[in-house]
Amino acid sequence: MPDLKGRHFTKVADWSGEELLAVLDLADDLKARQHRREEHHLLPGRALGMIFQKPSTRTRVSFEVGIAQLGGHGLYLAASDLQLGRGETLRDTATVLSRYLDGLMIRTFVQEDVEELARHASIPVINGLTDSSHPCQALADVMTVRERFGGLEGVRLAYLGDGNNVCASLMVAAAKLGMPFVAATPEGYEPDLKAVEIAREAGGEPEFAHDPQEAAHGADVLYTDVWTSMGQEDERDRRLRDLAGFGIDEQLVRLAGEKATVLHCLPAHYGEEITEGVLYGPQSAVWDQAENRLHAQKGLLALVMP
Ligand code: CP
Ligand code: NVA
Repeated sequence: MPDLKGRHFTKVADWSGEELLAVLDLADDLKARQHRREEHHLLPGRALGMIFQKPSTRTRVSFEVGIAQLGGHGLYLAASDLQLGRGETLRDTATVLSRYLDGLMIRTFVQEDVEELARHASIPVINGLTDSSHPCQALADVMTVRERFGGLEGVRLAYLGDGNNVCASLMVAAAKLGMPFVAATPEGYEPDLKAVEIAREAGGEPEFAHDPQEAAHGADVLYTDVWTSMGQEDERDRRLRDLAGFGIDEQLVRLAGEKATVLHCLPAHYGEEITEGVLYGPQSAVWDQAENRLHAQKGLLALVMP
């Protein structure tokens, strides 16, 4: 098993397929133990700080509960309540927080801010979402796919809609884990070119389409995310117009076939990127996927935190 103590998890790109699988293996084990209500204090007395500059339901609750289940505790730190919001630098913040905490999670806008925090922190820094990536989501996603399909290699993922942060991290994870990946987006909404390059360097051959039906055909997993991400609220009207037709509905699921699984990182907007019927339908693994945020992140914390 790779030694991951002290490692940052600021983006999927920095981790090998083997390292990602080590997290998933431990996550599976911790999930089983948690379901048996069996104590597993792998991080007794450790403290995890969680800085939030954007709202959250899943990330906040799963990290806070997860560290508690591991025997440690979490601190919710609203960025606006920290001196960070009044101009204290990321470097000073990282340096000071490293003296109190054993790990630090941050959800913010700019990826480079997370990298900067990691450069100056002497404790592991974990990215809880930026404008360009959502690596913890990708961990839960591939964990869910592995549960459903018994393995990852060769499982074909079709991502539909906005080629955003969630799409980018999923694409890179897919490349590292041997999963064929296609993104079907309107023109102008393709995934970030840098992420595409990273996926290719990792041995992936991501495909890009502008026709959702073409992408759904032969897909094992249909994946989507909101059309208007946090911070893009001003663009909502344009996005609704441009992305119309790229949502997952019953017809698209039928096209993928009855063995296909539907994933969505949530929160969902019914009638936009997904219908309520599909979200709660028999082919949806969305609720397991949301639950797996907890287990995947516990695996991650237990491996990286000292
Ligand atoms: N999927 C996800 O990150 O959800 P939250 O925004 O609720 O944390
Ligand atoms: N793409 C979405 C994901 C939310 C979990 C956003 O950034 O708002």
